Amino acid sequence: MSNTATFTDNRNGKTYEFPIIDGELGPSVVDISNFYTQTGMFTLDKGYTSTAMCKSAITYINGEKGELRHRGYDIAWLAENKVFLDVVHLLLHKKLPSQSELDAFRKKLKTKSFINERMLGLFNAFPDKAHPMAVLQACVATLSAYYSRDMNYDDPHEYMELAERLVAKMPTLAAFYYRHAMGYPLIYPDLDRGFTENFLYMMRSFPHSHVDIRSIEVKALDTVLMLHADHEQNASTTTVRTVASTHSHPYSCISAGIGALWGHAHGGANESVVRQLEAIGSVENVDKYIKKAKDKDDPFRLMGFGHRVYKNYDPRAKVLKGLRDKLVDELDIDSNLIKIANRIEKIALEDEYFVSRNLYPNVDFNSGLILKALNIPTDMFAVMFVIGRAPGWMAQWMELKEQGNMKIVRPRQLYIGPKIGCEENTSKNDIEYSGKQ
Ligand code: SDX
Repeated sequence: MSNTATFTDNRNGKTYEFPIIDGELGPSVVDISNFYTQTGMFTLDKGYTSTAMCKSAITYINGEKGELRHRGYDIAWLAENKVFLDVVHLLLHKKLPSQSELDAFRKKLKTKSFINERMLGLFNAFPDKAHPMAVLQACVATLSAYYSRDMNYDDPHEYMELAERLVAKMPTLAAFYYRHAMGYPLIYPDLDRGFTENFLYMMRSFPHSHVDIRSIEVKALDTVLMLHADHEQNASTTTVRTVASTHSHPYSCISAGIGALWGHAHGGANESVVRQLEAIGSVENVDKYIKKAKDKDDPFRLMGFGHRVYKNYDPRAKVLKGLRDKLVDELDIDSNLIKIANRIEKIALEDEYFVSRNLYPNVDFNSGLILKALNIPTDMFAVMFVIGRAPGWMAQWMELKEQGNMKIVRPRQLYIGPKIGCEENTSKNDIEYSGKQ
């Protein structure tokens, strides 16, 4: 049996063969890179629902089973047994660190967690109430101006430095902007505190005063960050890889990824979930909103539900739901919002509309409730997603560089526009469209 797939053009009976390539896990691929040169046709795959854009060894997702692994380690096991920086090390350095390696890694990131003081001027360029994602996207793009000319980012050592530097600075940039927007004094990273604790410290502390940060809060936030660390070729990671394929600066790639993540169909959903739960307001109103979500003529969608890949419960949502229920009293999570969320989930998991479309809660459904209980401002929830995802984006960027023979991402199209313009047909004054969609 040959490892090939045959394509027949029934218009002329011609057949073509394409190689089938097997991976370590998951679906095989049909390599159609020569499809156009062989058949003279393009393939069409709106939203890339059936298209693999690369080979990767970083993250494996089984959407049917609801399984997620980072370099082979199951996400539920990692969440139970490891901390966020363990997973960052796993993503960037391809192995889980020993305790001494973790301590050294934590210390190295701390030394990189400060930002050039001249960058603080950037914050003044933004109007009050600027969305923090707009600010963070600009800050990361600006970092490329500070770490550029002298960097040879084709050198593995150099780009590991770039990756670790970005992971280390993201919480500082986020916390600094929050403090600036609130008119509070900036609180600089405390080198005696851990990565995740430091973020809460920079957000909450005030000069010469005690700051209350409970270990359970650090653990909750650390788990939220870990669950967001990487997720295969999602929209923002695909954006990072696409920009990287032009040999742009890695930080401009990440800045583009932040822009993609911001959308409420993607990483912006965690903010939309909480705003939606607040808008629903009470359990009694849930049925009305479920009806809207099912109405094809209503653009309303249940935020935090559905996923392009998971056709089962998102394993991250499972971990977050367990964490939420464990912390509900400890963290004073808004019980009314939990009741509404539980009611939505119960109905959706039984209702034919959602069941037939395999719509389950995704990572964003519960993360916002935990972040809200940690007193993270709602418009910073996507920023927390960025802090978690930065190592995944950089790992994907480094993998693309390591694999070499990088090809610029340049898809084609099905042209449905006018055949000729009015300048070629003087009898007509306007362009005729075929009306093809
Ligand atoms: C993330 O890709 C990743 O890995 C992303 C992510 C990561 O870690 O990087 O996991 C993070 O982005 C999670 C997703 C967060 N987004 C949301 O929660 C927003 C709400 N969800 C939807 O917008 C939607 O489910 C998407 C965008 C997540 C997935 O969209 P798809 O795969 O393009 O699915 P679709 O729009 O084609 O929907 C299929 C059907 C449609 O109905 P029919 O046309 O078949 O009748 O399901 C319906 C949709 O109308 N549908 C929903 C729905 N999601 C899909 N109906 C109501 N509410 C919803 N949330």
